[in-house]
Amino acid sequence: MEWIQVADSSDCPHVGDMKRLRIQGKKYLLAHGDSGYFIVDEMCSHEDSSLYLGCVQGDRIKCSLHGSRFQLQTGEALDEPADEPLGTYPLKMEGTAIFMQC
Ligand code: FES
Repeated sequence: MEWIQVADSSDCPHVGDMKRLRIQGKKYLLAHGDSGYFIVDEMCSHEDSSLYLGCVQGDRIKCSLHGSRFQLQTGEALDEPADEPLGTYPLKMEGTAIFMQC
């Protein structure tokens, strides 16, 4: 496992901002929630829909297709129809640089 710089805080300066990440061929999403930055799977665990099309509400992200919400810290699905969690990934900051553990 190594830390890879994937973004800068200026990419997502405001709570509610998101940025798509493509790391080693996989799709992730950087989300700026109330408690800070989080990296989760970009694609919803219910069907093949990008959560980038949804919205961040507090420390949750809501899917635009069927409305399930996921906790950004844990990936837990909070509403049906999704019943599987999102993957969540370690993140650290050095100054304004955002690193993900891959
Ligand atoms: S595709 Fe996200 S809740 Fe159905």
